[in-house]
Amino acid sequence: VKFRQLHPTAAEVDVAELLNGLQLPGKARPDRPYTLANFIASADGRAAFHGRSGALGDDGDRAMFHGLREQVDAVVVGTGTLAIERYGRLVRDPVRRQRRIAAGLAAEPVAVVITRSGTVPLSIPLFEEPEARVWVYTGDHLAPVQTAAQVEVRECLPNDLTNKSVLEDLRRRGVRTLLCEGGPTLFGALVRDGLLDELFLTLAPKLTGGGTGPAMTQGPELPEPALLSLKWALERAGSLYLRYELG
Ligand SMILES: NC(=O)c1ccc[n+]([C@@H]2O[C@H](COP(=O)([O-])OP(=O)(O)OC[C@H]3O[C@@H](n4cnc5c(N)ncnc54)[C@H](OP(=O)(O)O)[C@@H]3O)[C@@H](O)[C@H]2O)c1
Repeated sequence: VKFRQLHPTAAEVDVAELLNGLQLPGKARPDRPYTLANFIASADGRAAFHGRSGALGDDGDRAMFHGLREQVDAVVVGTGTLAIERYGRLVRDPVRRQRRIAAGLAAEPVAVVITRSGTVPLSIPLFEEPEARVWVYTGDHLAPVQTAAQVEVRECLPNDLTNKSVLEDLRRRGVRTLLCEGGPTLFGALVRDGLLDELFLTLAPKLTGGGTGPAMTQGPELPEPALLSLKWALERAGSLYLRYELG
């Protein structure tokens, strides 16, 4: 899928080539994975329309979304989003799976779930996929999980379960790159914890007109706004694709 690059230089770019060029595994930190987030927002600043994000996107956004998944060792998603968006297998396309293997990655990323309350939406399609690997970090006891997916549960003492401790454990388990796909509650917490390296933001040329859809971050404000530096700006069909580094 072709995009028009506006910054840093004007060019026509192929999104798969652009994302492959990021060489993300080499950016892993010693103590935690290199961590990206990917979001779509409407032009009036909402991350959901009628409760879900799908209506905000188009095929360009889907190319970015799946292209980013193709690059990483693990994907972390909030339990709210897992349930609402009814997550399934993370990389379904055999061509993408093959490309990952050729690049030295597992066929698909590990799905990471963090829950302090032990509430995991086990009825979503993800847990029915025998090839899906799901690592659940829970701060409360979780009854034994009987699913087709390969689920590993780490029960932590409530005070020990923080985003930081989870990311440190992921790194010890070999995860070099982590993609957060939201939602706003989990993403806001990662931002406040200072655990984010990059934000991929799709600004959709759509207005929600109001409603109760959340902004991209939920939760307490930071003491000062976190600064971002723009790494690229792309355009396709009126959507803007902005890649920011934190700091
Ligand atoms: N536009 C987009 O790109 C996009 C992306 C994703 C989602 N969305 C939309 O966002 C909405 C869902 O988002 P959401 O904010 O309600 O839910 P969410 O962020 O997906 O999940 C929230 C849950 O994450 C768990 N969690 C784990 N660690 C946490 C921490 N350190 N701090 C806070 N929570 C933590 C909490 O469960 P415990 O209490 O059990 O810990 C919490 O209830 C949906 O409407 C979805 O469509 C939009």
